[in-house]
Amino acid sequence: MQILMRQDFLRGLKGEANMTTKPIKRILVTGSAGQIGSELVPYLRNIYGNDNVVAGINRTKPPAIIYETGPVVTVNINDRADLDKVVDEYNIDTIINLAAILSATGEKNPMLCWDVNMNGFHNVLECAREKDLSRVINPSSIAAFGPETPRDNTPQETVLKPRTMYGVTKVAGELLGDYYFRKFGVDVRGLRYPGIISSETPPGGGTTDYAVAIYYEAIKNRRYECFVREDTILPMMYMPDALKALVDLMEAPIENLIHHSDFNVGSMSFSAGELADEIKKHIPDFEITCKPDFRQAIADSWPKSLDDSAARKEWGWSPTYDISSMTKDMIEKLSKKLL
Ligand code: SER
Repeated sequence: MQILMRQDFLRGLKGEANMTTKPIKRILVTGSAGQIGSELVPYLRNIYGNDNVVAGINRTKPPAIIYETGPVVTVNINDRADLDKVVDEYNIDTIINLAAILSATGEKNPMLCWDVNMNGFHNVLECAREKDLSRVINPSSIAAFGPETPRDNTPQETVLKPRTMYGVTKVAGELLGDYYFRKFGVDVRGLRYPGIISSETPPGGGTTDYAVAIYYEAIKNRRYECFVREDTILPMMYMPDALKALVDLMEAPIENLIHHSDFNVGSMSFSAGELADEIKKHIPDFEITCKPDFRQAIADSWPKSLDDSAARKEWGWSPTYDISSMTKDMIEKLSKKLL
């Protein structure tokens, strides 16, 4: 009943009940050298064709596979003319905006975080509006929540009062995306990613980075000094599920969507200590010590687990990996890479 009311309300506001799902043919991924981008680009090239996925990079160099499999272009989302030029040149109809400053770096440089995550994203939206693009995908994060939010099974609709600049930009980005959808008919979609764990490119500047670094250190040195307490529980997701989620949301028929820029997506939740125990099943002499730093307070302000029933219902979200299947795969992949 409540959901129906919200649907009617949204449809009434935007007056676009007849908006159609436009086709996705040529995609620009900004931030392609990052943790998600460097795996998303090859994944998308398999689906949409190598030449149809343009890897946008800025300062950081992506892995070789990105250069070897398709077009790569330097693009700065904070420079509107630069962005427009790339979109025109490559005939882009969809932008996946992964260029962002994460939570820990954002606390060290809040103005840069605002500039990239908000002004950059606004350029992406304006470009999409003026050029009538098919889709904009702008991931949000568990960082959209704050200490006043219920931490267990965090609802889809809840208090959004983050304490980090990264979180502020994520909440504002969700609102701005939904605004562009209703006001201008730009098909903007986004999902609140938990911490993402992966083996290709390490994350940079996030609070959940410990859950990736622990694997590298366990394999290389058999020990890890963790920057959050052992009992810190956060929601996490393995990269293959994160990629699937993004494409499934991007491809969902628009008429099935009630939400747009702010889907909760859950997968697994565990403490740093539980993750260390899981790794010990493969590397018995692995040792973890904890020395919490400023990132502890950030982690403490985020949820432990998420209610993702809206994503399940509206676009069929269902994760595949759990802590044990992920750990087995991570250790196999990283051992090949590091040893
Ligand atoms: N992984 C991100 C961070 O830790 C959260 O979205 O900042």
